[in-house]
Amino acid sequence: MESLPPELISRILVYIIDGRLRSHPGISLAPYATLSRRWQAQIERCTFSYIYITTPRRLEEFERLLWTPRRRSCVRFIQLVVELESYDEKARAHFETDEERQRNDEIFTTTIGSLFKILSDWPANLDIGVDIKAQSPGDYLALKDPKERRQRKRAAAERVNDLLNKRYERSYLKFSRTTTETECPVVPAVTGLSIWGAAKGRLIEPASSVFIASKLPRLNRVDLEMQDDCRRDEQLRQLLRSDFARNLDLFPGSVQRFGLRFFHAPPRNQNYLPPDITEDGVDILSSQLRTFSQRLERLEINDSVVGPELFWPSTLPGDNLVNPPFWPLLIEVSVKYMEITPSGEWLLDRDPGETPEDSTDDFDATFGDEEDSYPEYVRIPLQDRKSKFFRTRIIAGHIDRLYASAGRAALRMPKLRWMTLQNVGPVHYSLEYEVQAGLSKLTWRNQDLTDGPYEPDALVRREKAKSLYQPDEEVFEIWRNVAIQHTGRDVEIEFKEWGC
Ligand SMILES: *[C@@H]1O[C@H](CO)[C@@H](O)[C@H](O)[C@H]1NC(C)=O
Repeated sequence: MESLPPELISRILVYIIDGRLRSHPGISLAPYATLSRRWQAQIERCTFSYIYITTPRRLEEFERLLWTPRRRSCVRFIQLVVELESYDEKARAHFETDEERQRNDEIFTTTIGSLFKILSDWPANLDIGVDIKAQSPGDYLALKDPKERRQRKRAAAERVNDLLNKRYERSYLKFSRTTTETECPVVPAVTGLSIWGAAKGRLIEPASSVFIASKLPRLNRVDLEMQDDCRRDEQLRQLLRSDFARNLDLFPGSVQRFGLRFFHAPPRNQNYLPPDITEDGVDILSSQLRTFSQRLERLEINDSVVGPELFWPSTLPGDNLVNPPFWPLLIEVSVKYMEITPSGEWLLDRDPGETPEDSTDDFDATFGDEEDSYPEYVRIPLQDRKSKFFRTRIIAGHIDRLYASAGRAALRMPKLRWMTLQNVGPVHYSLEYEVQAGLSKLTWRNQDLTDGPYEPDALVRREKAKSLYQPDEEVFEIWRNVAIQHTGRDVEIEFKEWGC
């Protein structure tokens, strides 16, 4: 073994690791490391590259094992699942209390602090990514055993006996804003941060991500999955949203790539209007993201409720901006926005060719009145009780405003190579702008959801898709100017059906 060249060892390892991951994820690589010193070095490169910390004990092990510079240099990713307080069966029927919430906030803060204390003296030439989520062993989502999951689901059939995830629907974990250097020191070795604060674990207060990030002075990439939804407490949602928005500028100046999924689900019953979350007609989150994005290279937003202020401040015609926004570094922008506006409107309307009767599909006719037999706190909110989906046609005015605002911004993005704007939902409309080899191309895609016989002629299909929506002449004009600005040449424009 000693005599094998390192390249061969590496190849054998890739073989072992690949096989191990595919068929035996539980098998540890560690025993191989005892074969010889050379193997040890190679194996540790693999075993220590991805660190998974789920309990305080693992955190101690991590500290104990990773004390040599060589081992530390192997680490690429650290996934931290903060283990929150457990709770008993009786507690499953109750919302988290204020005391429980406070204790969990403290566990959340101190656990992250403990990890950062271990990492604080690691060298500043490492590129470590840290992934954070939180869970209590008692949470439904934390259960691994399918049998246990089924039992919990059965117990929850009456809803009041086991609230499952609803137990913490109003508990957003908070990272303390006042940690001292000894409680949570600064960590130069970490350059990537992902925080999963929505569906995959406990909810995390969106603004907390900023305060965690503020401990990472070399932070380059940020990916956040946060929830922008609290059906039973709209005020709490708005508070969390605006607090996040107002603290965005505290992200370290080193951040260049920013990804945000700020998930909000529109009402399942499209007869309901979404809430207006603007202040004096302006969406604070969109405007703050606009300011923040001016220092980025890449911006990606998914499944979020954002408005045209994301790109350009809302101004009256003839207004001159004193300090127009400018994105000197921005190369790539991708925005997938929900089909509702921050001011509480749907971006989509009923197809004019369709009679209202055609569209009152009741997917879940069984829901409905039986909800009344449950106490209010476990009832499905009214707006989601019946699934009514009839909005399939984009409202041109709304989308023109967004496309125009993005175009105005693109005029101020000298390095822009790629921008896509796309709505999320059952029907899709998108704009794609690409600069390549001195040419700009603009592609509009529309999706036709109307039933009818399949049209075999691609050209006819395209014309049909085009007829669903065409940008206003002003929008065209702005984007032509964008192309001239970027390439000195006119833009190439194409209409396509969705999916082509
Ligand atoms: C956004 O969605 C894309 C495509 O589904 C995914 O690859 C990307 O990781 C998502 N980013 C964020 C920040 O959620």
